Amino acid sequence: MRPILIFLSLFLFYFLAVQDAISQRHPFEKIAFGSCNRQDSPQPLWKPIAADHPDLWVWMGDNIYGDSRVMDTLRAKYARQNANLDYQVLKASTPVIGVWDDHDYGINDGGKNFVQKKESRDLMFDFVGIPAQAPERKREGGYTSHTFGKGDQQVKVILLDVRYFRDTLMRENRVYQTNPNGQVLGEEQWKWLENELVKSKAKVNLLVSGSQFLPTEHAYEKWANFPKERERLLQLLASSGVQTPILLSGDRHIAEIMKLEDERFPMGLYEVTSSGMTHTWSGIAEEKNSLRVSELIAKLNYGLATIDWKSKQVVMEIKGENGRVYAQQVIPMTAKRKK
Ligand SMILES: [Fe+2]
Repeated sequence: MRPILIFLSLFLFYFLAVQDAISQRHPFEKIAFGSCNRQDSPQPLWKPIAADHPDLWVWMGDNIYGDSRVMDTLRAKYARQNANLDYQVLKASTPVIGVWDDHDYGINDGGKNFVQKKESRDLMFDFVGIPAQAPERKREGGYTSHTFGKGDQQVKVILLDVRYFRDTLMRENRVYQTNPNGQVLGEEQWKWLENELVKSKAKVNLLVSGSQFLPTEHAYEKWANFPKERERLLQLLASSGVQTPILLSGDRHIAEIMKLEDERFPMGLYEVTSSGMTHTWSGIAEEKNSLRVSELIAKLNYGLATIDWKSKQVVMEIKGENGRVYAQQVIPMTAKRKK
């Protein structure tokens, strides 16, 4: 046998063994996630993330700082990220999924009018491993859903695209104004999301968006700039009967945990924002957020969700360099579907 064939055979054997090991993992219980990652900056979090041995890594946007209408530039920046050796170590043993926010979309705080969004979507799908023949490639937008685990220990991750269809926001004196009738998801994505939630058999359902879902007070991009869309999402989460919905977000270069309690969510609806894998908002001292139940964290961070199937709870953590835990929130799992 030629040396090249021996090498290819060994590579294939190794690849299949890794894939098999991944699919055999049971129960599925640890999900690591993060956002805001400069491809050309030091990336000290991959080692502690790998040391946590997650069953999944979720990119939550600004996965690279593309900021370009030129696809060759975006492609080169994704390649730079893929060349990071510590990221490669994690990827060799851990499935990766993800969705973009604005910087990897191609334009800071961008929305539906970004001309290169179709080509950019394909590059993002390449980066997060969406197969060439996947049906998601044939539709508009970068949203996907992924279900892991087996039987009554399933986890669903719903990755929302808050850029491709998003209406324009006006900014005055550095404050984003409300767009009362504007859309975030677009009607096709809403229909898809409703179906994903209603048919979900998962006991834990993680919804991911680059933009923060719950906060209403700060001046930056957030779902609350589109109040009808935020309300529609909350209403849908409540009416769909989906079990243990937990919101995950990025973008802000800070980390925080929030809890919304109202008649629809008597046990509370939680959001964990984890942002700043390579840089954070070092100047921030305080930001008003009535829903925050943790410290406001402005250190490099990633998130970790650990599902304890026996005690039926999800432990959400914000972690940082050397695996330090900056915040923790225990969330009880919903007992059963409402319908
Ligand atoms: Fe962003």
